[in-house]
Amino acid sequence: MMEQVNEFDFENRIVSNEYDENMDAEVENSLRPKTLQDYIGQEKAKANLKVYIESAKKRGEPLDHVLLYGPPGLGKTTLSGIIAAEMGVSIRTTSGPAIEKPGDLVAILTNLRDGDVLFIDEIHRLSRVIEEILYPAMEDYAVDIIIGKGPSAQSIHLPIPKFTLVGATTRAGQLTTPLRDRFGVLLKLELYTTKELAEIVRRSADILGIEIEKSGAEQIASRSRGTPRIANRLLKRVRDFALVKGNGVIDREIADFALNALEIDELGLDNIDRRMLEAIIKYYGGGPVGLETLAATIGEEAITIEDVYEPYLLQIGFLARTPRGRCATRLAYDHLGISYSSAPSPKGVEGQQNMDFSE
Ligand code: ADE
Repeated sequence: MMEQVNEFDFENRIVSNEYDENMDAEVENSLRPKTLQDYIGQEKAKANLKVYIESAKKRGEPLDHVLLYGPPGLGKTTLSGIIAAEMGVSIRTTSGPAIEKPGDLVAILTNLRDGDVLFIDEIHRLSRVIEEILYPAMEDYAVDIIIGKGPSAQSIHLPIPKFTLVGATTRAGQLTTPLRDRFGVLLKLELYTTKELAEIVRRSADILGIEIEKSGAEQIASRSRGTPRIANRLLKRVRDFALVKGNGVIDREIADFALNALEIDELGLDNIDRRMLEAIIKYYGGGPVGLETLAATIGEEAITIEDVYEPYLLQIGFLARTPRGRCATRLAYDHLGISYSSAPSPKGVEGQQNMDFSE
């Protein structure tokens, strides 16, 4: 039987903002800033965090629990490391899906030291049973465990070290209310500006020993969908082109050449973005089309579309979310070179901005 090939190669997508162990681990670790001072962008989150950290240190208490939320690739893991470093404590990192049994979490909690940071990535994926262990842990620094079975079963209230939970999620709205309410600090991470990304690209090039001109960094930045993870990944690929097709230095021209070769356009859209927008326009008259229907049309999970592909398209005003589904905006038609007058009217969704990650 012939293997079915997905028309869209989501797995190998270079502008994916999803973390890829093979592609990103070594580079991300070497490039991660270790202090707030070195962390570029997210000025609002950074300024507030600085106050909370200083206050906690003055009081000699652990930092309140922190929830970081926003699209993938914006530096939630990096920030959690910085929080621990700035507090002068150790960090233990895990993720929602990795904690399968209550015993797993109890073991982690009881092995922490006072003040330590416990980082739980994808915290919205914790099971309810595990969540219920977290409530008293976060509130009273204790876990309630049951020993034995039947009539002789005993409940033990076990104190644990005073720790700081840092949770990260792409979707704050998927957290249960009791869990969300137990975080004292909620920090929303935003897509980065091109200027901030250019600064990050130059910093990364410096660390990796890559020669880059300002115009080259700007070119990479403007095509990185507001996401440092993508910017750093593109930097490595452009470096390859600079070494093989150029003189080793990344200038505007070689960056342009390389990014065109990777089929990433001036706005950072790749084939998948363009075809997703085209699908809305060609098959559904520009929308509205329901998320599930769109997902089935392009052979991808609805949740992946929401978390990974949509945020940037919403940010640049190419896509609009309406109660009846997704619509391609006039800006998207113009970018794809499709006449907007061919769209059934009225559309009424001109370039609408939507950065709400709370649903
Ligand atoms: N590398 C990735 N994200 C970064 C950031 N926000 N600041 C500095 N370097 C980074």
